[in-house]
Amino acid sequence: MRLTRYFLPVLKENPAEAQIVSHRYMLRAGMIKQQAAGIYSWLPLGLKVLRRIEQIVHEEQQKAGHIPLLMPTLQPADLWRESGRYDDYGQEMLRIRDRQDREMLYGPTNEEMITDIFRSHVTSYKELPLTLYHIQWKFRDEMRPRFGVMRGREFLMKDGYNFDVDKESAIHAYNRHMVSYLRTYERMGLTAIPMRAASGPIGGDNTHEFLVLASTGESEVFYDEAVTTLRLGGIDIDYHDREQVAGIVQKFTSFYARTDETHDPKAFEDVLEVHRKVGRGIEVGQIFYFGTKYSESMGATVTTADGRKVPVEMGSHGIGVSRLLGAIIEASHDDKGIIWPEGVTPFHAAIVNLKQGDSEADAACEAIYKGLQARGLDPLYDDRDARAGEKFATTDLIGLPWRITVGPRGLKNGVVELTSRRTGESEEMSPEAAIDRVAQIYAAHP
Ligand SMILES: Nc1ncnc2c1ncn2[C@@H]1O[C@H](COP(=O)(O)OP(=O)(O)OP(=O)(O)O)[C@@H](O)[C@H]1O
Ligand SMILES: [Mg+2]
Repeated sequence: MRLTRYFLPVLKENPAEAQIVSHRYMLRAGMIKQQAAGIYSWLPLGLKVLRRIEQIVHEEQQKAGHIPLLMPTLQPADLWRESGRYDDYGQEMLRIRDRQDREMLYGPTNEEMITDIFRSHVTSYKELPLTLYHIQWKFRDEMRPRFGVMRGREFLMKDGYNFDVDKESAIHAYNRHMVSYLRTYERMGLTAIPMRAASGPIGGDNTHEFLVLASTGESEVFYDEAVTTLRLGGIDIDYHDREQVAGIVQKFTSFYARTDETHDPKAFEDVLEVHRKVGRGIEVGQIFYFGTKYSESMGATVTTADGRKVPVEMGSHGIGVSRLLGAIIEASHDDKGIIWPEGVTPFHAAIVNLKQGDSEADAACEAIYKGLQARGLDPLYDDRDARAGEKFATTDLIGLPWRITVGPRGLKNGVVELTSRRTGESEEMSPEAAIDRVAQIYAAHP
């Protein structure tokens, strides 16, 4: 993309309504525009990051064997009457009437609808295990929408639902979700800690939330510092291997890590004093095992191998896809702007032309631009007729992890400059070497 042909409405001033850094930078970098409280348009740069995050979520879900589908945003109220949640959900649910005066709602989550799909088509254990998921917009009429996309009213969520014949395989589904979520967050450059949580309106007693540590987080968290150093790294995971998956869950949940709702001060005392941490976190996901809560009330049954008819075992699992943009920025920024991890960056590299209109500099930039594209990369070429300082300020603000700076002086010696947004370190090299280096970096972030 050439910046002169793009739509990047960068703001010079700090927007007064933004209280936290991620909201401020998302507005300043021209990623989102508020249309009503907690409701946003996704401008091109914001949409690009949102799509990268969705892509990672899709890939990791499908590696775990989970199957995508797409359910609508609007749902009939009657489905929710079957589970009893139509009345329970309260003011957070946006209730709508259509022209026939039928009661509808904008879905805050999809347990009822997926259970309805399941009971319409599945009757036998032979079709299990089954996990279906989608990435779809949700609406919750939050009391206090704030912090930009962090607590929206309309927000994008990945929600998945597992169906299993018995508790044992449902627990395996729970574990599989935990591991696939850990991998998902790691690919986004995030450390998200699974913490014992309370279940709220979804129901069930086995649940973990995934929290990204950040001083601006809305949840109070209590944890053993050792848990923050755990990583999956590049290990191969066989999602059919119950023991391997359970082993990883065991490792990641063996340390004390709880939100304020389940915090147990007495048990916390057992943690080594120097490791005992109290802080704040952003909830970027939650997994639940709830057994037959919905299948019993909604009549979703399967026949077992020995011919019995039983309510299917279920769980549900959510990732806050749009909230993740805010969480990643809270975890990765400096006073100049965002610093995107390579896994989610909207463009792979910026090309900054220090002297637009200089025929050699222009030609070199074009060659680098095409060279990066030929390697499957997506560069942003700042081809504006603007001062170097202004161009640097823009690429720093929008957070591109790598910048190639091209100017007549360097070109005389056959070099351009490759700069890391994260460290600020620059290195001179030939244009070809810069293309190679950037391609190599991204080869490690498929
Ligand atoms: N209002 C919101 N805006 C943006 N993301 C949200 C919002 N509510 C929930 N999410 C995201 O969706 C994920 C799954 O939804 P879940 O039902 O667990 O939310 P929740 O526990 O009600 O969230 P919270 O406690 O933050 O209100 C959450 O972990 C969170 O990342
Ligand atoms: Mg939750």
